[in-house]
Amino acid sequence: MKVSIKTPEQIEKMRVAGQMAAEVLDLIGEYVVPGVTTAELDRICHEHIVNVQKAIPSCLNYKGFPKSICTSVNQVVCHGIPSEKKVLKSGDIVNIDVTVTNDGWFGDTSKMYTVGKAAPHAERLIKITQECLYKAIEIVRPGTRLGDIGHIIQQHAEGNYYSVVREYCGHGIGDVFHEDPQVVHYGKPNTGMELKEGMTFTIEPMINAGKAGTKLLKDGWTVETRDKRLSAQWEHTLAVTADGVDVLTKRPDEPF
Ligand code: MF3
Ligand code: CO
Ligand code: CO
Repeated sequence: MKVSIKTPEQIEKMRVAGQMAAEVLDLIGEYVVPGVTTAELDRICHEHIVNVQKAIPSCLNYKGFPKSICTSVNQVVCHGIPSEKKVLKSGDIVNIDVTVTNDGWFGDTSKMYTVGKAAPHAERLIKITQECLYKAIEIVRPGTRLGDIGHIIQQHAEGNYYSVVREYCGHGIGDVFHEDPQVVHYGKPNTGMELKEGMTFTIEPMINAGKAGTKLLKDGWTVETRDKRLSAQWEHTLAVTADGVDVLTKRPDEPF
């Protein structure tokens, strides 16, 4: 694995892109209501990124992906394609994943939303999945190993009787969307690559209420749980600092 180290100037460019992606997640929240289509959410995000931020929605045409954001509803694990036919209803849970390219640099982040009123078990899956991301972020510093990150996520998910998706993972990011290293969300302490100052990558755990197995739909993108039970995901783009972590896609309401 050839993991690139970014300079402080490059990390500042990533923060600009990251803050654009974070802003999109904040502004879309009020539109995630019963009756909206995921295509409408995509249009609102696309217009803001292109016309207001003057940036690029990285997902559009990425390896043929047809829309500007991913919208993953209920049993969809990731890479859901926004559609005029997908009307959100009260009780749905949805992940919106936004990646922005600005001045050649990428910021990638996602969060969960509830539509109307969600069931307590759905709210709990969302909360535990966010805790998985936050616990992983807390241990990021030089000397932490990738296995430590996977382990802390797996422990918290499985300790709550959930399961960790294996087929999709976090990734290095910078002036390319997906680069080394692969950041898997399960693992053993004291294994894997050691983090160094200047590394930039995402952590984006996908946690299932039931079994870990996934299935790729015939559209070539949408990933669902095999057992059709709920899945949740949260994602941030991070930089390793001299003594900790810098969350480049931090939203104003977050504690880091
Ligand atoms: N944003 C996703 C990630 O976290 C990637 C989406 S690729 C797309 O890596 F083509 F589906 F948009
Ligand atoms: Co990502
Ligand atoms: Co993403």
